[in-house]
Amino acid sequence: MNDLIKKLVEAYGPSGFEDNVRELIRPEIEPFADELLVDALGNLIAHKKGDGSGLKVMIAAHMDEIGVMVSHITKEGFLRFTNIGGVYPHTLLGNRVQFADGTIGVIGSDRITERGAVHPLEKHFIDVGAASRETCPVNVGDAAGFLRPFLAQGTRLSAKSMDDRIGCVIAIETLKRLSETPHEVYFVFSVQEEVGCRGAQVAANRLDPDVGIALDVTTTGDVPEARPMAVDLGKGPAIKVKDSGMIAHVGLVKIMRQRAEEANLPFQMEVLEAGTTDARSIQISNGGTAAGCISIPCRYVHSQSETVDANDVENSVNLLVEILSKPIVL
Ligand code: CO
Ligand code: ZN
Repeated sequence: MNDLIKKLVEAYGPSGFEDNVRELIRPEIEPFADELLVDALGNLIAHKKGDGSGLKVMIAAHMDEIGVMVSHITKEGFLRFTNIGGVYPHTLLGNRVQFADGTIGVIGSDRITERGAVHPLEKHFIDVGAASRETCPVNVGDAAGFLRPFLAQGTRLSAKSMDDRIGCVIAIETLKRLSETPHEVYFVFSVQEEVGCRGAQVAANRLDPDVGIALDVTTTGDVPEARPMAVDLGKGPAIKVKDSGMIAHVGLVKIMRQRAEEANLPFQMEVLEAGTTDARSIQISNGGTAAGCISIPCRYVHSQSETVDANDVENSVNLLVEILSKPIVL
């Protein structure tokens, strides 16, 4: 799976600019899907047909990643920028970003007078090596993603945009391994999650599913001075009970837990105090949808070295296959 993970996490795809990621995912799923569709926002939707006895199930994993967008260029050729999604100022200085055309920039900051302080985002700039505004190869409105190669150390996998390319990988693998299902399953590779779960919202409105399950990362409580949280890296997929945008459907949580227990898969129960996922927009779409989320434990979320464990990834696929190959009675 590491080749596919590397390919997806290294791809360019800030929210609203997911085309490259979509074109990498499409050939992976085409042989296994009964139908493929791209909607007006850019969501890629793969339908896997059921035997007619089950429910309509939407699986969502987001293709987009956090990034930056050029807001203004100084006459000396430095780019000021705004954030696309939740970019933390302390992850900026010294990092590199890449634009759609391949132009690479390094991030500098205005003079730091207090060493312990972190400048806000607006006191940073991108240097693409231009000598002036006129010769700058980048324009106002151009978006960039962070640049960082994939790293595998044993089972620990680090990259920018594990959030949520790892969810995309889990969706792809599940579609590949799901030989038979009672359900009409729609795998949605969604857009614009990092700016408010917008892609999943329109996809859920189109599909009107009975059940929605998001695949996304969650934070962990297992690093020094972490916010206390009962999720550790490597201890199995986390079944979401609550985050700051959603309380998962109680019956669906029960089924997820039951399937994990029956198949002897490791799992953890997740209560995330800050953040939400596409499951929130699925839950409150149409007349309401039974929604839940399988979360992949991840350290350093929204940094350029988001770190997951390969065993958790594998067990997330196993759990989702278990859920989708059996009846779902809510
Ligand atoms: Co995120
Ligand atoms: Zn995410």
